[in-house]
Amino acid sequence: MPIHFANIEACVFDAYGTLFDVHSAVARYESRIGARADAVSNLWRLKQLQYTWLRSLMGKHVPFWQLTGDALDYALDAHNISDQSLRDDLMSAYMELDAYPEVRDTLSRLKDAGLKTAILSNGSPEMLESGAASAGIADLLDENLSVEEVGIYKPDPRVYQLAVDRLGVAKERISFQSSNAWDAVGAATFGFRVAWINRFGQGRERLTDDPDVELKTLDELLPIVGA
Ligand code: 2OP
Repeated sequence: MPIHFANIEACVFDAYGTLFDVHSAVARYESRIGARADAVSNLWRLKQLQYTWLRSLMGKHVPFWQLTGDALDYALDAHNISDQSLRDDLMSAYMELDAYPEVRDTLSRLKDAGLKTAILSNGSPEMLESGAASAGIADLLDENLSVEEVGIYKPDPRVYQLAVDRLGVAKERISFQSSNAWDAVGAATFGFRVAWINRFGQGRERLTDDPDVELKTLDELLPIVGA
């Protein structure tokens, strides 16, 4: 029996890794980075996420834009790359990451079905506005929500509560989608219905509450929420 999320009124999406391809920034400058490009991009993402968790635990929040730059500095230094122009180009690229191919059509079909849609992300507001605009999806989003409104990073429950408060929809009627397994677990633990978009073949986390369903791409969500 295929899974169905009943009575969903809103679909909320993580941004980085779910709607936007975080590795498209380095990919644009692969010729200047060389064979280490994948390793640089993976270390950049790893440190970016580690810094969100560590700063939240320490109570030392800074906006995702600064933290993303700090993580890039770590990754470039680890690979003995000292190139200010390249760093600036990579950070600019992070404001306009590629969207995954199915994103726009999926959002459009969710809107046609009368559902509310939103981004809920660690990203700074200006990063999310820029990312949505460059991906051509700004017109398909009812809300573009940043953790900056609560001053702490995912998976703190106050972040997921922000979607409930800004959309005016009960948590049980919100479907949350993330490619980041730990984020999907955080959202399920909060009380959303959750589709884990396992783009990267990650293993199942041994943490708290599991996502309701594991998908490969966002378009698989449509029949689950009745769109
Ligand atoms: C996001 O919040 C988890 O970085 C990811 O968009």
